[in-house]
Amino acid sequence: MSDAAVVCGLGGALPETVVSNDELAATLDTSDEWIRTRTGIERRHVIKPGEATSDLAVEAGRRALESARAQDGTAPDDIDLVVLATSTPDHPCPATAPLVAERLGLGGVAAFDISAVCTGFVYALAAAASMLSAGTARRALVIGADTFSTILDPCDRTTRAIFGDGAGAVVLRTGHAGEPGELLGFDLGSDGAGAEMITVRAGGSRQRSTGLAAPDGDQWFSMQGRAVFTEAVLNMSKSAQALIGRVGWAGEGPDRVVAHQANVRILRAVGDQLGLSAEQIVVNLDRVGNTVAGSIPLALADAVATGGLRPGHRVLLTGFGGGLTWGSTALIWPELATVPTHIHA
Ligand code: UT7
Repeated sequence: MSDAAVVCGLGGALPETVVSNDELAATLDTSDEWIRTRTGIERRHVIKPGEATSDLAVEAGRRALESARAQDGTAPDDIDLVVLATSTPDHPCPATAPLVAERLGLGGVAAFDISAVCTGFVYALAAAASMLSAGTARRALVIGADTFSTILDPCDRTTRAIFGDGAGAVVLRTGHAGEPGELLGFDLGSDGAGAEMITVRAGGSRQRSTGLAAPDGDQWFSMQGRAVFTEAVLNMSKSAQALIGRVGWAGEGPDRVVAHQANVRILRAVGDQLGLSAEQIVVNLDRVGNTVAGSIPLALADAVATGGLRPGHRVLLTGFGGGLTWGSTALIWPELATVPTHIHA
C-alpha cells in the first residue's frame, strides 16, 4: 500500500454575474477607492437567485475530473471519495457532498462535508490525504465551494465589499513518496475562543431557527474585521513557518505561497513575515474577492492559467478562517493538464 496522496487534477468555477466595486457603491456607503486601497479587491462573482453552492461545486469538480482524465486517464469510476469544504451548504442537513457526487455520476462513493470556513479546503485536503494514506480510498475529489452572497447582510458594507462566490477542486490519487504533487505534510490548528469573530449566530442548535426573523440580524454572517485581520496574519505566518520546518524547506523556502485570499494587505504581511517577494505571493482576490473555501483552489487554478505557478515550484498553501481555524500544506507543483476556470453558465 502506498502512503502518499498526490494532486493529479485541478479545476475552478465562478458564477456568471460579476459585481464591480462601483456597483456595490451604488447601494452601499462605500467606494471603489476605499475597497481597492483597503482590500485590493476590484470585483467579485455572485450566484443568481435559484443557484446554490452545489451548482458551483459540481462545475469545479467536473473540471478537476477533466483535468485528471487528461493527466493520467482518471475515469469517474476511479473516484471513491468526495470531500466538500463549505460553510454555505445547500441545506443545513443533509451534507451537500453526496448530492455533488451523485450529480457528477460518482454515486455510491463515500461523501461528506467539512466545515472550517476559509480554512475548509486545507482541512478537506488533510482529511482526504489521510484516508488515501490509510487505504480507505484510492482517488478523491476534494472541493472547496461557498456562496457567501447568500448569507451576507445586504446593508453591511464591510462584508459585502470582501466576499464573492466561487469553487475550486483537486483530484488526489495514491502515489509514491517523492513524486511531484505529493502533499508533503500538514499543519492544522484552531482556537474556539475566537468563535465570535466570524459567525452566523442564528440557525443552529444554540439559537434555533423558529421560522421568524432572527433578532438583530443574527441570521446574517458577521465578522470583526480588524481583529480577524490581525489573527489571519499571525496564524497563517506561524502555520506556514511550522510547515516549512516540518517539510525541510527551512533553507530555500517556498517558491510560491498560495494563501487564503481575503485582503491583499494580509497577503503582503504574510509575505513579509516569511521573507518572500511580492512575485512569490499568489494574488487573484482582485478579480474574485474572498471566496471562502473556494479561495485556495481558485487561486491555484488562476496562478497555473496565468503562468505564475509552474511545474517544479515548491508551493505552500496556507489558510485562515472562522472557528478560528488555520492550516497549511506543501507540495512540489506537478505537470497538470488544467482546465481553465470557466464562468459557470
Ligand atoms: O475570510 C476570513 C478571514 N477574513 C479576513 O481575513 C478579513 C480580515 N479583515 C479585513 O480584511 C479588514 O479588516 C476589512 C477589509 C474587513 C476592513 O478594513 P479595515 O481597514 O480593517 O477597516 P476597519 O474595520 O478598521 O474600519 C475602518 C473604517 C471604519 O469607519 P470609522 O469607524 O473609522 O468611521 C469602517 O466603518 O472603515 C469603515 N469601513 C468602510 N468604509 C467604506 C469599513 N468597511 C468599509 C467599506 N467602505 N466597505
